[in-house]
Amino acid sequence: MGLILSIANQKGGVGKTTTAINLASSLSYLERKVLLIDLDYQANATTCLGIHRGSFEYSVFDCLTEETTLQQTILKTDNPLIDVLPARTMVEGVEEKIILNNNRDFILTIQMKAIKEMYDYILIDCPPSLGYITINAMMASDGIIIPVQCEFLAMDGLTQLLNTIRLVQSKKKVNMETLTIFGVLLTMLDTRSTSGYQVIAEVKTYFNEKVFQTVIPRNVSCSNATFYGVPVTEFSPKSKSSLSYRQLAKEVISRHEQTTIR
Ligand SMILES: Nc1ncnc2c1ncn2[C@@H]1O[C@H](COP(=O)(O)OP(=O)(O)OP(=O)(O)O)[C@@H](O)[C@H]1O
Ligand SMILES: [Mg+2]
Repeated sequence: MGLILSIANQKGGVGKTTTAINLASSLSYLERKVLLIDLDYQANATTCLGIHRGSFEYSVFDCLTEETTLQQTILKTDNPLIDVLPARTMVEGVEEKIILNNNRDFILTIQMKAIKEMYDYILIDCPPSLGYITINAMMASDGIIIPVQCEFLAMDGLTQLLNTIRLVQSKKKVNMETLTIFGVLLTMLDTRSTSGYQVIAEVKTYFNEKVFQTVIPRNVSCSNATFYGVPVTEFSPKSKSSLSYRQLAKEVISRHEQTTIR
């Protein structure tokens, strides 16, 4: 059964999109069928999967405003194991339209029912905000991956994020559904400085076993891959960040299998 994971943190630039595309790519190397839902107006995940802006009619935002369905909007990519639900830049008034919908928290949940079984993993790249778009993503998800950048003030804003997760958990409970913190991912570790390791220790004290063992190092191949608009796993397969994302995919699958067996 497909596992739906939102990659969320309202803090900007912590590695949400980089994680979404590289985890999707790494899961595909392990023969898992993945759908990546790009919920960010910046549409970086869409571009990184080789989908050119303007080459498609509908975006995920048209699904949220119920102008079309997910089935009509999902696109195939060059990788047969990865499909994408693309985002479009310069969309206005989406949140305003969502608010007017009686099912404002569940629009994505309702639409995803028809496609959930088609994939092993559905990854949702959330925008850097905690508005209705992120709430829709969380409501539709089984778990959240929280990327935390290994830098000063890493924990800043996490209370707000955890409060939102708790709110969604209580709403889902009404329908006998759950939302777990699937994992906390430490990103962009500068292995040459000690402060990054202090952040790791702090985050581990707070989140304990929720923290993935895999830590993503800061690596120039990763930012270069973003520049060229491709996953680092393809741009520079042997780079440290690429190998870490490949390792993360194994950890994600193993966590998933452990929770399913239990
Ligand atoms: N491991 C890494 N090493 C070096 N650079 C990285 C790494 N991970 C991400 N970056 C760079 O950091 C920047 C921010 O990453 P990314 O876009 O993934 O963050 P985000 O959380 O999705 O941002 P936003 O909140 O704006 O959506 C990008 O330029 C990306 O190339
Ligand atoms: Mg992003």
